[in-house]
Amino acid sequence: MTPSARGPAVERSASNSARLAARWESRVQRSAHPLVYPALRAVPGPLLRVPGLGVLVRDPELVREALMRPEVFAKNGPGTSSDLWTPVLGEKVLLNMSGQDHQLLRRKLSPLFTPGFVDVLSRKSLSSPLAELGEKLASGEPVDLVQQAHLFSSVVISQLVGLPAEQIHNDRLYQSIHEISGTVSLRKLSLAEGEVIAARRIMGDLSEHATLAYRNGDPDTVPGRMRELGLSEEEALGAVGAFALTGTETLTAYLPRLIALLIDSGWLPRLARDRSLLEPAIAEGLRVTTPVLVMLRRVRTAAQLGKHHFDAGERLILLGFRINHAAGRFNPVANPSAKLKQLWFGAGAHFCLGAPLAMAQIRLVLETLLDVAEELGPESTLRIRSRQTARKVLIPAYRQLRVSR
Ligand code: HEM
Repeated sequence: MTPSARGPAVERSASNSARLAARWESRVQRSAHPLVYPALRAVPGPLLRVPGLGVLVRDPELVREALMRPEVFAKNGPGTSSDLWTPVLGEKVLLNMSGQDHQLLRRKLSPLFTPGFVDVLSRKSLSSPLAELGEKLASGEPVDLVQQAHLFSSVVISQLVGLPAEQIHNDRLYQSIHEISGTVSLRKLSLAEGEVIAARRIMGDLSEHATLAYRNGDPDTVPGRMRELGLSEEEALGAVGAFALTGTETLTAYLPRLIALLIDSGWLPRLARDRSLLEPAIAEGLRVTTPVLVMLRRVRTAAQLGKHHFDAGERLILLGFRINHAAGRFNPVANPSAKLKQLWFGAGAHFCLGAPLAMAQIRLVLETLLDVAEELGPESTLRIRSRQTARKVLIPAYRQLRVSR
């Protein structure tokens, strides 16, 4: 439908809804990083050197080139996220590796992320909690979607570590992971000594289950399947830890943000009636939220990026979110995300390995909400009854998002 065919009143209301959605998204991000987010949004020019911090890069070509040259712009090294992961998970957990070792381990793990495997895994873990969510919403019961997302991630972590889902009745596993990642921020990426000890203890508890599942070799569990794929016990345990630590907060934060975005922008009932725009809506949600706001790299040897020179040891802070946001407001029809090659999942050798699993889970959760919205019809669709944004967290998120019809 062309804009003029929809009439001025409808156009005005659509643009108000789009503004409301953008305003809330901005609030979520500011609440997570009250000082850093506005500062990063204001970075002028293609790059900016900030003494003591690093080089802030927002030019799309430079960001992509840095991501595509991991041998020079390394993901491990001081001031990168390996400061956080290595003391807790060890040296060889994919996201702090590079070169051939990294490629080999990724290749070994890749069968775990085929569409067939992630689809079965996600359905097995989420079917029953999603059915319960659908029933609650359809009956008019208010639901906190943040709590729900915590519960879903507990169930998924239980699958990753090989615990039977029946043993998970609350969000305990999510909370234990959150205890680790909840202590870091963009300004303080590493853990203090006491925090490392606590984090190791938590990961140790999770590893106990994973070790058992690996040794039993049951291919219905993720660690058992890893053994079948030829991973050593150490590699399997490291990978389980890496998946739990990297995948949990990102996905758990994104799900409520996507639903809020769809309700605020008025897209939820529209999508419920016409699912053909489901994929662009998810991609647009990922683009405008960009859960991982920045990617960090360390310059290994002096190098040129475009016309800019970098010295060995410099730290790059790649402002992926600026590139994604520059494409405009959430718009599944124009779908500007199509041109960005999923930059919200990174690019090159370290492109998010868990992306197919994340997408499978996002689809299942969204379809449940859309089924409820379709049943309710446009007149009594789902609404946000109350919400709170999370303050000072690494991945911007809602702390509470109560929804009911
Ligand atoms: C909406 C959800 C998610 C988003 C937005 C996201 C985003 C990202 C980004 C941007 C990177 C690259 C970081 C960099 O290059 O510095 C990454 C890497 C990674 N992600 Fe995700 N992620 C998500 C979900 C998941 C899930 C569910 C898993 C677990 C199964 C996962 C596992 C990983 C791993 C293992 C890496 C490191 C890959 C490597 O270094 O080779 N992610 N993710």
